[in-house]
Amino acid sequence: MTGLELPPGFVRNVLAVRGEDAGRAFLASLPAIIGRCRDQWGLAVGEPFAALTYNWAAPVTTRDGEAAVLKIATIEGDELAAEVGALRLFDGRGAVRLLAFEPADGAMLLERAVPGTSLLDVDNDQATRAVGALMSRLLRHPLPPDHPFPTLGGWARAFERLRAAHGGGTGPMPAGWVERAEGIFRDFLAEGWQPVLLHGDLHHTNVLAAAREPWLAIDPHGVAGDPAFEPAAFLRNPLDLTERPGASAIVRRRLDILADEFGYDRERVRLWAIANCVLSAAWSIEDGGEVPQGPIETARILHELG
Ligand SMILES: Nc1ncnc2c1ncn2[C@@H]1O[C@H](COP(=O)(O)OP(=O)(O)O)[C@@H](O)[C@H]1O
Ligand SMILES: [Mg+2]
Repeated sequence: MTGLELPPGFVRNVLAVRGEDAGRAFLASLPAIIGRCRDQWGLAVGEPFAALTYNWAAPVTTRDGEAAVLKIATIEGDELAAEVGALRLFDGRGAVRLLAFEPADGAMLLERAVPGTSLLDVDNDQATRAVGALMSRLLRHPLPPDHPFPTLGGWARAFERLRAAHGGGTGPMPAGWVERAEGIFRDFLAEGWQPVLLHGDLHHTNVLAAAREPWLAIDPHGVAGDPAFEPAAFLRNPLDLTERPGASAIVRRRLDILADEFGYDRERVRLWAIANCVLSAAWSIEDGGEVPQGPIETARILHELG
């Protein structure tokens, strides 16, 4: 059996999001799940990717010799349904194809992006242009009112949960930034735009170099929302962004390229990105972490670029 060398960071993350008991049970069940997928889909399973964070994933080869990836979701349920639903709707256009799905095991068989290097390996301008071009491929799916995807309004409820958990306050989160994000969500959500299906997490390591298209997205959240929200995850990444010299100039350049070359409304993108920074920090706390400084610092940079 392969695939059992689990990176310590992955184990820590699984225990943090699932809780100690459910997390250990999930980790213990992984070999059996991988074995079932191997048998069902006729796979040769490689060693898991070094970069595992929250989900188990490894390169595999199908019985037809096709390069694919087996991904086992740590958290099943709505999040996984949205990821699968988004991959199906994207249908290979700007994103890897979903080749097969086994809901009982939370297992996805995905087209592999080859060579699969990420946007971390190219310079800021090139990465921004790749994301700009990719968004034009992905953002073409207006959703009917009865669509099954989570919405940006639903995401904003993280702030209600935060306040409910802290007697109406913001607990460890800086109150000013939470209020700012709540206000941005409130204002934009009140506009009543026609939502499109967004990837929702289109950051550097979720965009991989490929052959069928220059870049393919992986790992969509699948959320219904305003197209101007989509660049937010890219704008606040990678995680060490704010430790880099000239972080503000990097972010400013991204906003300029998205506005000048891809027609995005700079101000709208900037505001959504501020809200997304604070939301991601709130999610980190819900997942059992501390207030991450990176996203809050990026919110400040974005604020000053106004
Ligand atoms: N379809 C794919 N092609 C190539 N590499 C992949 C693919 N899917 C995942 N990977 C690799 O596995 C890692 C984790 O997969 P990802 O879907 O991003 O999981 P997570 O939800 O944990 O971020 C990626 O960063 C990438 O290195
Ligand atoms: Mg990912």
